[in-house]
Amino acid sequence: MADNEIKKGLAGVIADETAVSKVNPETNSLLYRGYPVQELAATQPFEAVAYLLWHGELPSAAELAQLRATEREHRALAPEVKDAIDRLPLDSHPMDEVRTAVSVIGAIETAGISNVLDAVGTPEENLRRSLQLFAALPAIVSYGQRRRRGLEAVESRDDLDYAANFLWLTFGEEPGAVVVDAFNRSMILYAEHSFNASTFTARVITSTLSDLYSAVVGAIGALKGPLHGGANEAVMHIFDEIGSADQVEGWLDTALAEKRKIMGFGHRVYKRGDSRVPTMKAALDSLVAHYDRPDVAKLYETLESEFVSRKGIYPNLDYPSGPAYNLIGYDTLTFTPLFVASRITGWTAHILEQQASNALIRPLSAYNGPDERHIEEYEPDT
Ligand code: SDX
Repeated sequence: MADNEIKKGLAGVIADETAVSKVNPETNSLLYRGYPVQELAATQPFEAVAYLLWHGELPSAAELAQLRATEREHRALAPEVKDAIDRLPLDSHPMDEVRTAVSVIGAIETAGISNVLDAVGTPEENLRRSLQLFAALPAIVSYGQRRRRGLEAVESRDDLDYAANFLWLTFGEEPGAVVVDAFNRSMILYAEHSFNASTFTARVITSTLSDLYSAVVGAIGALKGPLHGGANEAVMHIFDEIGSADQVEGWLDTALAEKRKIMGFGHRVYKRGDSRVPTMKAALDSLVAHYDRPDVAKLYETLESEFVSRKGIYPNLDYPSGPAYNLIGYDTLTFTPLFVASRITGWTAHILEQQASNALIRPLSAYNGPDERHIEEYEPDT
């Protein structure tokens, strides 16, 4: 019998099992296939973490080399994708560009599949599709930012691994080791987080035996929202609104009086702080030193201490990652697409897991509409 208590937002509801990651609010920890995310962020290239999420184990040197070779083969921005982005208004939201790009890739990749029962694809096909999207997203995201700045696309460089090449594609300059390390850490920290809204969206779509691309497009739509992935963009808007540390108190007085949600703070699962924040804050600190921007650290720390002391609500990963991406030179509107480029690994790991042990996801609802009533002139068929 159904448990008849309604759990709004599915808060606290365990919908299924997963072996991909473990979020533990009691110990404030996050494991990717058993490894603490802090250890992965401090020791691994993002490519190795992608392999771990898909395959369940860290790659050997040969397996990592193979993944890197395949990733290099699929970095180029496909002409159909570039054309689709170019047809969008220049001021389209970058998340809409990314969503459109993935949709175009999916339509091309699944062309010719006339029987919807074949849309879901085999595990091997979907592993290939996952790696191809992982490889293609840096070119899509960086092209969007360069297009908005009136700059031509930059060609990938095979002598650069994933993180360095992503930065090269965006800025057309060879990035320094400090920036590459901070960026690589952010990609690992954003990669996976159990049944968050966008991942669960991907699993719901996958559970109908729809295709991987449809599931990713749906996940991108969910991630765009400011209560979820869009928060890292919203954090930067808040920093821009406040301006400097000495304006924090007044700004917060007004914001809280208006009952505004302060983006970058709070979490549905973590209630005493997000396990990923210390690692991302350390990456931010390295960028603050690298770019000599102590003002950013002052504003960050003042807002955090003020808000935590007033509301007892702690920062989440979006709080340190917003200013970090800003220091690196990313446009604020590009922040959530960066989240997509990372979370594609977690989403696709969950899509593969859902397919391997599927059940259609279809919860119940409690009806609270009008009682049954009838059309007066209706005459039932005899
Ligand atoms: C991500 O799920 C995941 O794992 C997501 C994520 C991932 O890796 O996939 O971790 C990434 O999405 C992180 C969250 C990014 N979102 C934001 O930073 C947006 C701001 N945060 C809030 O909207 C909120 O904290 C949520 C949505 C994240 C979580 O909210 P809950 O668990 O649904 O709790 P709630 O909104 O009911 O808040 C409880 C109370 C409320 O006060 P009352 O109405 O009871 O008086 O706390 C208040 C809220 O108003 N509150 C906030 C707040 N967060 C909670 N008040 C002001 N600012 C905030 N940020």
